[in-house]
Amino acid sequence: MSLTPAFLDELRARTSLSALIGRTVKIQKAGREYKACCPFHNEKTPSFTINDEKGFYHCFGCGAHGDAIRWMTDQRGLPFMEAVKELAQTAGMEVPAPDPRAAQRAEQAKGLHDVMAAAQSFFEDQLGGIDGAEARAYLQRRGISDATRRTFGFGYSPDSRGKLKVALRDFGDPMLIEAGLLIDPDGAEPEDSQARKRDSYDRFRGRLMLPIRDIRGRVIAFGGRIIGQGEPKYLNSPDTPLFDKGRTLYNIDRASPASRQSGRIIVVEGYMDVIALAQAGFAEAVAPLGTALTEHQIERLWKMADVPILCFDGDSAGQKAVIRAATRALPLLRPGMSLAFATLPGGQDPDDLIRAQGTTAMESVLASAEPLVERLWKHEQGVAPLDTPEQRAALKQRLSAITDAIAHSDVRAHYVQAFRERYDALFFARRQSGFTPGPRHNPRGASGGWQRDRRGNWKPPLPPAGTEARAIGESGMEQRLLRAILASLLRHPEQIALHRETLSGLQIADSALAQLLDAMIAASFRKETVERQGLLTILGQGEVYNMAKGMLRADTFTFTPHRITADPDRVARDLDEAVRVMAQGPELEAALAQATRRFESEVSEENFAEQQRMRALKADHDRRLAELAQSEDII
Ligand code: UTP
Ligand code: MN
Repeated sequence: MSLTPAFLDELRARTSLSALIGRTVKIQKAGREYKACCPFHNEKTPSFTINDEKGFYHCFGCGAHGDAIRWMTDQRGLPFMEAVKELAQTAGMEVPAPDPRAAQRAEQAKGLHDVMAAAQSFFEDQLGGIDGAEARAYLQRRGISDATRRTFGFGYSPDSRGKLKVALRDFGDPMLIEAGLLIDPDGAEPEDSQARKRDSYDRFRGRLMLPIRDIRGRVIAFGGRIIGQGEPKYLNSPDTPLFDKGRTLYNIDRASPASRQSGRIIVVEGYMDVIALAQAGFAEAVAPLGTALTEHQIERLWKMADVPILCFDGDSAGQKAVIRAATRALPLLRPGMSLAFATLPGGQDPDDLIRAQGTTAMESVLASAEPLVERLWKHEQGVAPLDTPEQRAALKQRLSAITDAIAHSDVRAHYVQAFRERYDALFFARRQSGFTPGPRHNPRGASGGWQRDRRGNWKPPLPPAGTEARAIGESGMEQRLLRAILASLLRHPEQIALHRETLSGLQIADSALAQLLDAMIAASFRKETVERQGLLTILGQGEVYNMAKGMLRADTFTFTPHRITADPDRVARDLDEAVRVMAQGPELEAALAQATRRFESEVSEENFAEQQRMRALKADHDRRLAELAQSEDII
């Protein structure tokens, strides 16, 4: 009996999951979903949800998750076939009977294998013959050795419409058409007695032929590369009874045993990448056949190694394919099974890299492969700006969509946590609030971990591992305010010492601005600094000096403290506020993150109130920061 994926999809689509579950469990409508107390674990408040649209149930308490068939097997305890039969009956569908033609098909497949084997030797012979001279020269130009040529079974299809057809005529046209070797010009058209029967002809003409083999090493299809330039670059066999593109990986017959030796499987984009890798000693490489990796291919890869390394081109098409594969893998992830991503330097494919820089360069690219979680995080972080609260919330939403797609509950929980950590580290303070004892309180003692650096300014203790402080200036607003503050301090150098403690505790994202601030703080220990000119002299001549000069020249600042003639009291007051607001951002974010975590791990009135309080403080802060930053016109 054969149940096709299409049949199962149809079955799922025709089954109302809520009605099915509602037969044995009390369910309640909740918006577009249904809720119930989870039948898989003991609970009093419902955390089990049913989504008819998506056709699955999910328990937020115990992680139970599945579709209608899974419900029948896991909850009702039926064997798979029984589950399908019962659902089919309810849905009014007929379960396909054991196929009487299965045996016939197996027989036919056997014939097709013979056809493909014959075609393979025909192409190989052609490559060795007179017609193959140009193809042989091409292989040589590409640096493909004779050994590699034999290993991969390179061949050549002569530039003719009928040479293969004639050479393999004993198999008969229908078989050659079925095998995808001949094109039947009338094949796709509806039968029409009026139509003149046109002749079938060779599909592959004037191409370098690459046999595609199944896991048992039998040729099931061909890829034909044009020799030199032209379109299409590769012509591939159509899907046939032997060949299903989405279920095949190029070179799997050789890579599979090699992967057992090395414990590694490498996935590249192209035939030629696989071949170049093999020639360089990486036998464990496969490629999909010009399409995105399918679920089936991912599962197949996991049979060879727990964490296949995808090594796709560094160009945008390659990176798009990477993200598509990553997204496709999410619902399939299981403990220990993942993907890793090796990124090739700009515009190169593995073939190019090996040719340009050799095996060692390839090894180091593979060694620096990133885990799936990291690749997804980087991608989401990079697709849109993250300057406004809305944009940041949108990032969070995108991350949630990713974790929602993970079916395995433990894996999902760890992804949620990993994303949360990265998100918090990016936006929320990792600095502790209150740097006591700070340099003012304890300028010489070692307690508190404060240290004086080479320039003589005090640095706060390093934050504990994992809670590194977010740098100031990662948002446009903060960056503007920071520049305004620095420009202001340059105009009123006597103010630097007053804010030294707070300023030296800041981590600045922009390294040039950080350098300038460091230099200013260091200078503030000397008394000449009280004078603007004195400060500039101390800053020396380099980049820092130039930046400071530029900031002093910029006379477009409207912010009170910037005017050199401003009232000193007013300057002090305004700077005080600006510095405080700027420094508070990361701290408030951390406090809010902590309050949110507390609330999420224990839902209580008290925790909720605290979280709301932090949220309000943070909102106030953001508003004030924006006002301060926008009162500037920074160039
Ligand atoms: P590439 O264009 O990267 O091919 O396409 P490549 O392997 O680097 O080829 P060379 O080095 O130029 O010879 C990657 C894969 O996409 C499929 C093939 O499977 C190819 O190996 N492809 C590409 C096609 O099926 N048809 C095409 O026209 C182009
Ligand atoms: Mn290439």
